[in-house]
Amino acid sequence: MSKIVVVGSSNTDMVVKSRTIPRPGETVIGGTFVSNAGGKGANQAVAAARLGGEVALVARVGDDMFGEQARAGFIKEGIDTTFVRTDSAAATGIALILVDDAAENLISVASGANENLSPSDVDDAEARAKLISTANMVVVQLETPMDTIVHTADLASQFGVPLILDPAPAPKTPLPEGLLAKISCIKPNETEASYLTGVSVSDFASAAQAANVLHDFGVENVLITLGKSGVLVSDARDSFVELPSIQVEAVDSTAAGDAFSGALAVALAEGKSLVEAAQFAIIAAGLSVTRLGAQQSMPMREEVLLYAKLHIKEGEK
Ligand code: RIB
Repeated sequence: MSKIVVVGSSNTDMVVKSRTIPRPGETVIGGTFVSNAGGKGANQAVAAARLGGEVALVARVGDDMFGEQARAGFIKEGIDTTFVRTDSAAATGIALILVDDAAENLISVASGANENLSPSDVDDAEARAKLISTANMVVVQLETPMDTIVHTADLASQFGVPLILDPAPAPKTPLPEGLLAKISCIKPNETEASYLTGVSVSDFASAAQAANVLHDFGVENVLITLGKSGVLVSDARDSFVELPSIQVEAVDSTAAGDAFSGALAVALAEGKSLVEAAQFAIIAAGLSVTRLGAQQSMPMREEVLLYAKLHIKEGEK
């Protein structure tokens, strides 16, 4: 099994699913409520574990009921929680999520303990377990402090270990200089790609322009997800492959990007090509959209392989 290390956030998601998402000042009644395990880092860790990776998570939860539940969930998924620290000074991260009938969502996060995930947490994982240097793939997102993300990328690059950056949530300020050059693969959606490059991304043509900008910043592999339209895959300047998304009955798009990143990490760590890995990730993300919730919506490896066998032509897998 390939060893995937995720350095990132863990939240408890409080989700209301209702017909519409209210506008500012509006109240919408008639929804249903569920509380789920979430957080972009933890979601990606669960996705990777269900899809066949040997996964370790470096994260922080609070010393509270939500933190205990999150940890128990990781253990159930077979994730190594040695470096999931219980922070006595902060609460577990909480995400308030609204989902509408069209499966679109709106998310607001109280970061809590995620804000305290520090470079020394990553150093500790490396010093005690050689977690970064022995990984086949390291995965980071933007829901934890930037100095921790930069430090993780520095370590991974120093040890020659490939690193995926899922630049979510969309960065509102430019990323630190030099960070992108240390990343082997970046996976923004349209909004994130627009923030990162200044190109307004809405289709394959504008995504190609944005991908070239990201290559110019030093990123080797770029995948820009375009929702229902599909994914632009680019392994070099002016080299593009357009892959369609899969057709599904959408229930909740929350964490579809996390399913994609977790799947991408597993497939690339297993030695699949960028296009093959993207195809695997497109199916994982598509299947996750058919279910409500974040971690609980992540598909198992067998489901993805079965979908590929039934629906994807040989040569496109
Ligand atoms: O990407 C989805 C995740 O974003 C949710 O699980 C929520 O916790 C927020 O972090």
